[in-house]
Amino acid sequence: MEQVMISTKTTNYPVYIGQNILSDAGSLLQGILNKSSKVLIITDDQVAPLYLDVLKKALGETVIKYEYIVSHGEASKSFDQYYEILSYALETGLDRKSVVIALGGGVIGDLAGFVASTYMRGIPFIQCPTSLLAHDSSVGGKVGINHELGKNMIGAFYQPAAVLYDVSLLHSLSKREWASGFAEVIKHGFISGEHFYYWLKSMIHTLPINDNDVLVKMLKEAITIKAMVVQEDERESGIRAYLNLGHTLGHAIEATYGYGKITHGEAVAIGLLFVMKLSKDILGANLPIDETRAWLRQLALPVSIPEQCDRTKLLEYMKRDKKSENGQVHMVLLESIGKPIKKVVSELDIKRALHTF
Ligand SMILES: NC(=O)c1ccc[n+]([C@@H]2O[C@H](COP(=O)([O-])OP(=O)(O)OC[C@H]3O[C@@H](n4cnc5c(N)ncnc54)[C@H](O)[C@@H]3O)[C@@H](O)[C@H]2O)c1
Repeated sequence: MEQVMISTKTTNYPVYIGQNILSDAGSLLQGILNKSSKVLIITDDQVAPLYLDVLKKALGETVIKYEYIVSHGEASKSFDQYYEILSYALETGLDRKSVVIALGGGVIGDLAGFVASTYMRGIPFIQCPTSLLAHDSSVGGKVGINHELGKNMIGAFYQPAAVLYDVSLLHSLSKREWASGFAEVIKHGFISGEHFYYWLKSMIHTLPINDNDVLVKMLKEAITIKAMVVQEDERESGIRAYLNLGHTLGHAIEATYGYGKITHGEAVAIGLLFVMKLSKDILGANLPIDETRAWLRQLALPVSIPEQCDRTKLLEYMKRDKKSENGQVHMVLLESIGKPIKKVVSELDIKRALHTF
């Protein structure tokens, strides 16, 4: 098992990464569980039949456990769902010493984390990510839900008390979810530098990744990059924005196309290629665009804007992005691999790039 420590100004916590470690949850999380009165496990209806019993058994007989199972998918990151879980927590008598465990992908981590961050002004929570994409979402403390006017518009910065990442669970993911999660791994490669990016490119030609040792090494590296960024800038006033690489267009595509019709990672993959193009157009950056496009295609990730997405609408969404200020689009571009940079990009440059992408 590998361990990455996350140290922010507000807290420190471990990220455990390994094979079959969900069944060691009782001992790995003992320090947190010993101080808690009750545990509420929040999961979804696809993950629950596979792993809920494993987790419950691992927590042991002495822990008082409640469970709340939501429908899988982005629609569960809603205000109604959030409110229902809070009602359940109150009805079952969860108190300030109770702990929330998120067992699932990014949707569950974001939703359960937001519940924990606001229930009785905040109770501890533990992330047990089960998707590849959740290597990103489970670390760093961004939790939240969607509003119909925008994704992740209601939320908080609230760090987990621990992250337990059992890579064995990833093998029940669909091929599409593997690809979706891998887009965020590539993003970490772009932020980190040539070494990790070219290691990924040389190692990963198809998905899923069947070698658990490669998986652990890859996830440790990606999480370490995220940890370094979050440690320096927990509340996204500076370099944390780099983690949004590819997300300005990515979020706009998700919103325009319709959540659920395209996965988060698929939209990010298109967004990453778009950033490479903009970086070439605006900064003159020399980036391996064709090579990356071919690699993404090989991994069954989309490489162009879906026909259904109207480019004028995309631009409108991009202007409403959380990084935007006074209607100006602030994007993360790449000077080179490993050198992200925040830039104000003019509407004209975006329009031009959207129409020639
Ligand atoms: N908080 C952050 O920093 C952050 C970062 C990136 C993404 N996100 C959020 O994460 C969400 C996307 O995460 P996701 O892609 O994990 O979505 P998800 O949680 O919806 O999971 C994708 C699908 O895979 C299923 N699944 C999960 N684990 C499984 C397993 N082991 N076996 C079989 N099926 C499994 C789920 O039931 C779901 O149907 C988005 O809402 C996005 O906004 C948050």
